[in-house]
Amino acid sequence: MKRVSILLVSILLVSILFVGCSNQNKTIAPVAKTEQPTGVKNIMNFIGGIQPILGSSIKQDPSGIHASNFCATSAMEMTKGYNATLPKGQSVRRTALKYRNPANKPDAIDVKVMKEFVASRDFSKPKIIIVDEVERTYKALPIKQECLACHGENISPEVKKVIMKSYPKDLATGFKLGDFRGVVVSEIRR
Ligand code: HEC
Repeated sequence: MKRVSILLVSILLVSILFVGCSNQNKTIAPVAKTEQPTGVKNIMNFIGGIQPILGSSIKQDPSGIHASNFCATSAMEMTKGYNATLPKGQSVRRTALKYRNPANKPDAIDVKVMKEFVASRDFSKPKIIIVDEVERTYKALPIKQECLACHGENISPEVKKVIMKSYPKDLATGFKLGDFRGVVVSEIRR
């Protein structure tokens, strides 16, 4: 008898969780019908392609000098290359409130969405919105250990030199582990 009631309680809990989750999905991603919307897929594939390269560059030279040279010259090229593999009308880009590369400057809508991420402190779920016939998906990027060499509070003078040479107006330093760093944005013309 005891077992049966434990079982019933478990089923009840699981269904509450389940209903809770599906409701949550509805409010966060009103346009998402499948489990992983195209925008999220485009972002995850992009991140999956770029982070291993950054990681191996850091391993080669833990000071970050090699990698920051690489970032300064290659990040935009890699984004362009990735976008060329996507169907027409789809692209990804990166932006931030405190940005380093002026080419990544946010627009007013980017700023609004990023401020929401910062206020909620919840970086786990992507936000999906429609702007002028374009579906925008925002994925927040928290600061991880491997980001600190180039975005943290104690950047080595060598790395700082490389960064300042390419980005004299850099705003993207002084971050701590877990801070909101920026977003990857997917755009899909509908
Ligand atoms: C080796 C140095 C280095 C490391 C490590 C590094 N970055 Fe960057 N990051 C840069 C440079 C340089 C730029 C500017 C060039 C570009 O990528 O457009 C940049 C740009 C960015 C941008 C685009 C917005 C902007 O500020 O221009 C984001 C977002 C970003 N980095 C997030 C991260 C995150 C998250 C990590 C850790 C997973 C990380 N970075 C690790 C050097 C680095």
